[in-house]
Amino acid sequence: MSRELVLIGIGAGDPDWITLEAVRAIEEIDVQFVVLKEDELDDLVAARRAVIERHRTTPLRTVELRDPPRPWRTAADYNAAVAQWRSQRRAQWGAAVDAELADGRTGGFLVWGDPSLYESTLAIAQDLVAAGAGGDAPLSLRVLPGVSSALALAARHRIPLNRQGRAVQISPARLVRDGMPADVDDVVVMLDGRQTFAAIDPAGLDVYWGAYLGTADEILIAGPLAEVRDTILAARAEAATRKGWVFDTYLLRRRSP
Ligand SMILES: C[S@@+](CC[C@H](N)C(=O)[O-])C[C@H]1O[C@@H](n2cnc3c(N)ncnc32)[C@H](O)[C@@H]1O
Repeated sequence: MSRELVLIGIGAGDPDWITLEAVRAIEEIDVQFVVLKEDELDDLVAARRAVIERHRTTPLRTVELRDPPRPWRTAADYNAAVAQWRSQRRAQWGAAVDAELADGRTGGFLVWGDPSLYESTLAIAQDLVAAGAGGDAPLSLRVLPGVSSALALAARHRIPLNRQGRAVQISPARLVRDGMPADVDDVVVMLDGRQTFAAIDPAGLDVYWGAYLGTADEILIAGPLAEVRDTILAARAEAATRKGWVFDTYLLRRRSP
């Protein structure tokens, strides 16, 4: 016999951004593992609950995994702090999976957007599977894609992410603090809590910005970065005050000569 973990991408906003495969998995899992992050947003918890209510016809057992605090925001050695946090998490999740997932059963994680993009859940699930590979009831892993915010952004702005025959980079904001990488013309920027777009040299750049994509609060702004960055800053600040949090993603595009 064996046990299975399934990471279910639920899309990054619109409840329709979920695949039929994911809908089937939600109906079939035996237990749901819910990761409670220290700064988890109520709206995201509610969104996951709504997905379950919509696609599950029977009650679902839920096991909560409380995340250890994230020390690296203040840590001197970022990589060491992340490694230590990961190992704490791995130990805690491993114990919970062993205790709660019986032989022959499937446990699910509902993951925002797509599980493969800026999500630590998948790396930890891989570690758990590797650790449990030789046991009496080995663990296997399935990953079900969902619509990522990066792709939702392109769809909402009705643009291709790449230009013909060219590459696209997907980057956390901290890696574009000094501007666009020298040899890249299109960068999708995620995880920007500091409005990095407004601090870089806007010469020659266009921006396609989206916040709360796929939700009733969605905001889209596009144009030359020099011209629209103040509009984005104002819209972002107003939304942050109103809602208490912001999720935004944007494409920085070097204008063609
Ligand atoms: C931890 S990452 C998760 C990404 C997710 N796995 C995905 O595929 O979209 C969170 C970041 O994704 C982006 N994001 C997620 N949902 C979004 C949405 N509805 N609108 C705009 N950006 C979003 C933001 O850049 C946010 O900081």
